[in-house]
Amino acid sequence: MTDSTRGFYDDLAPGYHLIFPDWDASIARQAEFFDRLVRDRLGPGPRRVLDCSCGIGTQAIGLARRGHRVVGSDLSPVAAARASAEAAARGLALPTVAADMRRLPFAASTFDAVVCADNSLPHLLDAADVVTALRDMRRVLRDDGLLLLTLRDYDELRGARPASTPPQVSQTPDGRVITFQLWHWRGEHYDLEHFQLVPSDGGWAVRQRRTTYWALSRGQLTVCLADAGFGDVDWLGPESTGFYQPVVLARR
Ligand SMILES: C[S@@+](CC[C@H](N)C(=O)[O-])C[C@H]1O[C@@H](n2cnc3c(N)ncnc32)[C@H](O)[C@@H]1O
Repeated sequence: MTDSTRGFYDDLAPGYHLIFPDWDASIARQAEFFDRLVRDRLGPGPRRVLDCSCGIGTQAIGLARRGHRVVGSDLSPVAAARASAEAAARGLALPTVAADMRRLPFAASTFDAVVCADNSLPHLLDAADVVTALRDMRRVLRDDGLLLLTLRDYDELRGARPASTPPQVSQTPDGRVITFQLWHWRGEHYDLEHFQLVPSDGGWAVRQRRTTYWALSRGQLTVCLADAGFGDVDWLGPESTGFYQPVVLARR
């Protein structure tokens, strides 16, 4: 499973920013949101933050810009390397390492906060793997450290079982890039076919990739968090935060 997930994100990493209409605007918006949560819960800071599914740096870069000492890790070495390079291009230090979130290469109690954002955790396809990852996030957190997870609202999506996502259009110097997904449901899991239509010779070139998600419900994740030893679990919905995904906070 991890080989195909890594391949998916290695391949997508150079064009990952194109899934956002304006990636820099998303970096700024998400930083404002995560920074506020970290300061609300842990005090003014700055803090030592691990983003354990940093991808190309959507959350990590903005948190570093806001003064936190951020380290990024990700299963995809191509994405992790791009995150560091994008941070450097913006005058920021963001050390990153390629690592599976189930085996984090950091000493115990290293971080005040661990971020795992934008539906990264549900790439782990069963409760055993999710608990293994959460236990390792807990291990690298200091006592009373803060875990911040964001993921799709799978309680709603399991009911609706959507077959696709709406097209997302991103402007590039070469023209518009269109991104959309097809979802193929198999019980609690679905295979995601990811399409990017890229301008080419007056027409379109199609880039197509496939990965798998577990539509992890709120109840299932809450049980996994307890099994991993987290307390003070707090679910925040979009209606209260204004953020585009549910957020789960928990304490070591
Ligand atoms: C949807 S992307 C989100 C990336 C980033 N947080 C963002 O918002 O741009 C999911 C990320 O999870 C990472 N990922 C998936 N499985 C992982 C694992 N077992 N360990 C670490 N990272 C993983 C992928 O490589 C990918 O970068």
